[in-house]
Amino acid sequence: MTTYEMQQEIIRLKKEKNICILVHAYQSHDIWEVADFIGDSFGLTQQAAKSDAETVIMCGVQFMAETVKMLSPQKRVLLSNAAAGCPMAEQMDKEMIEQLKEAMPDYKVVAYINTTSELKTVCDVCVTSSSAVKIIKAMPEEKILFIPDCNLGDWVRKQVPEKQIELVHGGCPTHVRITAAEAKAAKAVHPDALLLVHPECRPEVTALADYAGSTTGIMSYAEQSDAKEFIIGTENSIVQHLQMKCPDKRFYPLSKDCVCHNMKLTTLGDVYDCVCGRGGKEIQMDASLIADARRCIDAMLAYGG
Ligand code: 13P
Ligand code: SF4
Repeated sequence: MTTYEMQQEIIRLKKEKNICILVHAYQSHDIWEVADFIGDSFGLTQQAAKSDAETVIMCGVQFMAETVKMLSPQKRVLLSNAAAGCPMAEQMDKEMIEQLKEAMPDYKVVAYINTTSELKTVCDVCVTSSSAVKIIKAMPEEKILFIPDCNLGDWVRKQVPEKQIELVHGGCPTHVRITAAEAKAAKAVHPDALLLVHPECRPEVTALADYAGSTTGIMSYAEQSDAKEFIIGTENSIVQHLQMKCPDKRFYPLSKDCVCHNMKLTTLGDVYDCVCGRGGKEIQMDASLIADARRCIDAMLAYGG
């Protein structure tokens, strides 16, 4: 079977079996081409809530599939590759947050969506990279404990100076690899290029950027900009996707090391196995875990996220 034939078969089977395929922007282009929806964590959360398919295949990582399940408990939710986790989501555990809450009783705990569902049960409000600033501004509370990504937290803190935002050490091992020295070197090699980065990057990298935002934010910015060259400071798949979307522009990776090995695990063959009914990992969550973990996602949606 060729790649094209496999894609056609996936498209045929997903229609026949009422399956929705959600694809995170960091997935490869052959998987993008069979998607019902491509997006960042925020867009995928919204699509998960809207979809009326019986089965949803999440091409991304574990916490994303858990979010889909929380918002659609009646659906069968499959993670496209069983081994695809997010190391940042697993950096903190429930006990650690409970201890912090005891020590900081007047703080509301805001969790990046890149957290396990177990951790979400002890958090107050969830945010994504594209909704964090808006939601924290909308919250009536002034004291915020932001977990687990201190780079994203620092980026939010600078934009919401009226609030007291405390951070806990944690972050994305993929984005944290990018250094300010690499950013300066890339700007020197491509002096006319705009630097676009994800806020999971270190603050000293984000400080050098012309724009910081979610994966979808970066892509829209580059597509709409009049500039012709861009250095991309997020997972390197975005460089390829943008180059295909905008052939008249040029895109350069900020760092050859910005590769998320977990996002890269899923292959088109995995998606094919999922639609054939023999692959993926079915997300199992009991009703009480769903109810407890969902509270902070519902709070995000209520604050307009
Ligand atoms: P967004 O999808 O919110 O841009 O986050 C990037 C990321 O690292 C997802 O794991
Ligand atoms: Fe997790 Fe970072 Fe990979 Fe996103 S890019 S899945 S935050 S390790």
